[in-house]
Amino acid sequence: MTCLSVNINKIALLRNARGRDFPSVLDFAKKCLDLGAHGITLHPRPDQRHARYSDVFDLKQLCDARGVELNVEGYPCDEFLEVVYEARPAQCTLVPDEPGQITSDHGWSVAQNRALLEKVISELSGRGIRVSLFIDHGSEELGLVKELNADRIELYTEPYAEAYGSQDEPEIIESFSRTAQEAQQLGLGVNAGHDLNLDNLANFLAIPDILEVSIGHALTVECIDLGLKAVIEGYLKIVECS
Ligand code: PXP
Repeated sequence: MTCLSVNINKIALLRNARGRDFPSVLDFAKKCLDLGAHGITLHPRPDQRHARYSDVFDLKQLCDARGVELNVEGYPCDEFLEVVYEARPAQCTLVPDEPGQITSDHGWSVAQNRALLEKVISELSGRGIRVSLFIDHGSEELGLVKELNADRIELYTEPYAEAYGSQDEPEIIESFSRTAQEAQQLGLGVNAGHDLNLDNLANFLAIPDILEVSIGHALTVECIDLGLKAVIEGYLKIVECS
């Protein structure tokens, strides 16, 4: 079975819009876990425009209390690493984002960043944190990922989501499948994420042994869409009695 790790960033974005703790990142994470989600993901960016570094510590406490995994994603800048080293989440997913980038849009060039990755992977692993690297499908650097002692890769699935339902879907799934298989043969675990949703997830998980998917943006929008009827009806009931 694949684990569902809910990415809470969009709830943090809504919270920050009003400057109060509403909606509460912690409450939303609790509700997801109450409903059976297997873990929580947070991706603090250097400007902390959605997830804040302080959220990492709150969510770590929650995940520990519930016996589930916290996955913290991000670019390994000094500030990010300080927080991760202190909070010690179960997993840290390293992404090659530029500061200020809207969202992650590519995997690592591993050879180009070898010195940085080697050092950070070793420091994370030494603290008992599982390390995953965000990687493009078709990457030819999986051998190097293994050599640097990462535990897993996270496949960047936006190209799959783009192709979903089009004539390109079978070819792109085949490419993702080959990358996943090659990683697994090297002894790397395989996670996946970005732009996965209720429509496109099932076809993607035809690829065997994907250990974890982290999903945030679409999941949040789907909560709004699927909850809309009950909420509008609730408001109408109140205003119509006035
Ligand atoms: N994986 C990584 C590395 C990400 O940066 C993100 C977005 O924060 C996700 C997965 C989740 O993507 P989405 O929000 O589209 O579900």
